[in-house]
Amino acid sequence: MGIEKIMIIGALGQIGSELTPALRNIYGTDNVIACDLKEPGPDFKESGPFFYSDVLDKENISSIVEKNGVTQIYHLAAYLSAKAEHNPAMAWKLNMEGLFNILDVAIENNINKLFWPSSIAVFGPTTPKVNTPQTCMMEPNTVYGISKKAGEGWCEWYHKKYGLDIRSLRYPGLISYKTLPGGGTTDYAVDIFHGAVANKRYHCYLNGQTKLPMMYMDDAVRGTIELMEADADNIKIKSSYNITSMSFTPAELTAEIQKTIPEFICDYQPDERQRIADSWPQSIDDSKACEEWGWRHQYDLPKMTSEMLKHVGKLQMESF
Ligand SMILES: NC(=O)c1ccc[n+]([C@@H]2O[C@H](COP(=O)([O-])OP(=O)(O)OC[C@H]3O[C@@H](n4cnc5c(N)ncnc54)[C@H](O)[C@@H]3O)[C@@H](O)[C@H]2O)c1
Repeated sequence: MGIEKIMIIGALGQIGSELTPALRNIYGTDNVIACDLKEPGPDFKESGPFFYSDVLDKENISSIVEKNGVTQIYHLAAYLSAKAEHNPAMAWKLNMEGLFNILDVAIENNINKLFWPSSIAVFGPTTPKVNTPQTCMMEPNTVYGISKKAGEGWCEWYHKKYGLDIRSLRYPGLISYKTLPGGGTTDYAVDIFHGAVANKRYHCYLNGQTKLPMMYMDDAVRGTIELMEADADNIKIKSSYNITSMSFTPAELTAEIQKTIPEFICDYQPDERQRIADSWPQSIDDSKACEEWGWRHQYDLPKMTSEMLKHVGKLQMESF
């Protein structure tokens, strides 16, 4: 196989802003093309090829793929869970039409591999909440979850019909410090660190006992690249793999932060995101990902908390 040329759509978001440099380290800066609807900051712009592009503009995406000899696509542009509830029509359009455009561009241009993330939002109130299995009852009741579940079905269909090598992970809530999260239900697990470091105080929009599956971004980026580099014969699940690292409640995260910042206070004022969180699993069984392509998480709650406090602390020092 020749040199891989990788296109990342939604490269300026929470995941893309960390996945893009990680892929550039492996495949070479010029071989990883970042695309987004937003204007990048000067640092990102100078760090490698960038194209302003809208995933809903199929012709434009297709012409970037053709002109640059793209062989792999990571499609990350989506409306996230909390934001999608406020704008269902636009969320459905971006999450579904965007995915169709990429699936069709991939077929028309003989793309080798496609990555598209799903989410724990594919599960719903009738799903077993603890150690949620790979295959079980899935009746999501959010716009975002409905779109991710439909997307998984379409990924399987494109694989069956066209042999497209499409790989996917059901990410849990992702925790990172480089880019703020984009409107999900688990955003509190990032915001709380900024509140703790800046003001020693945080108002949480979920109640203290809401247990959700989470993952530190380093694990998510490594897992994504390992999935994409795995031997195709080992990728048996064509919809999306369960994957996880840890599960905790806001109260447990608060207690962990208090080990370093004892004065930190978190209070709880649940809003409409509580309903979404209550419909999701508390913990995930990712044994299929472990068995089939060797997934292992590296970050648990104490290790993630210590990394986040260190990096968010540094960011706040630099902003003075
Ligand atoms: N972050 C999480 O915790 C999490 C959890 C589960 C699944 N996911 C999934 O991972 C993917 C990436 O999530 P994220 O957190 O990085 O999202 P994000 O909202 O932080 O980033 C999405 C990026 O897509 C760009 N974008 C939006 N509309 C676009 C369009 N029409 N054309 C091109 N680009 C467009 C945005 O400008 C943004 O930079 C999404 O599919 C999301 O559903 C994320």
